Amino acid sequence: MNLIMKMLAVPATVLALWAASAQAAPNDEIAKRLEPVGQVCVQGQECKGMEVVASAGGGGAKTPKDVIAKHCNACHGTGLLDAPKIGDAAAWGERAKKEGGLDGLLAKAISGINAMPPKGTCADCSDDELKGAIKEMSGL
Ligand code: HEC
Repeated sequence: MNLIMKMLAVPATVLALWAASAQAAPNDEIAKRLEPVGQVCVQGQECKGMEVVASAGGGGAKTPKDVIAKHCNACHGTGLLDAPKIGDAAAWGERAKKEGGLDGLLAKAISGINAMPPKGTCADCSDDELKGAIKEMSGL
């Protein structure tokens, strides 16, 4: 039961966060209107998405581990929505082959693909920061 609640809660918060962060920069008002959506969390459970909102906007380059922990792990940590799992070299290798290597994967990560949101919800990540995260997750 608990696990099911978790599985339902994670994509909702992640996607809400993605929507909120995509809008936050140009228009604070839209972000504000989206706020209640971001609070779709199961009572009594740690609400991961909210931490990310609280810590977003810090300056300086992000390390691959930071990016993964804050943005990618929610899906890639467990293979949620069929995301290739962190450290699953075979799964990542197969995708890299199909997309033409690390740069091909980076291009898809930037644009988004199916349930994979653009930039993996890290709207303010640079290409290099995303690439570092992909490298770290895939071992490529
Ligand atoms: C909301 C869940 C979610 C988050 C958050 C997420 N991903 Fe993904 N990602 C997916 C899913 C699902 C796929 C598989 C998509 C498919 O092939 O249908 C995927 C696939 C990928 C791929 C392979 C694309 C390809 O062409 O095969 C890369 C690269 C990737 N993600 C990078 C990242 C990075 C980097 C982050 C963090 C900055 C991230 N993802 C965050 C869900 C997510």
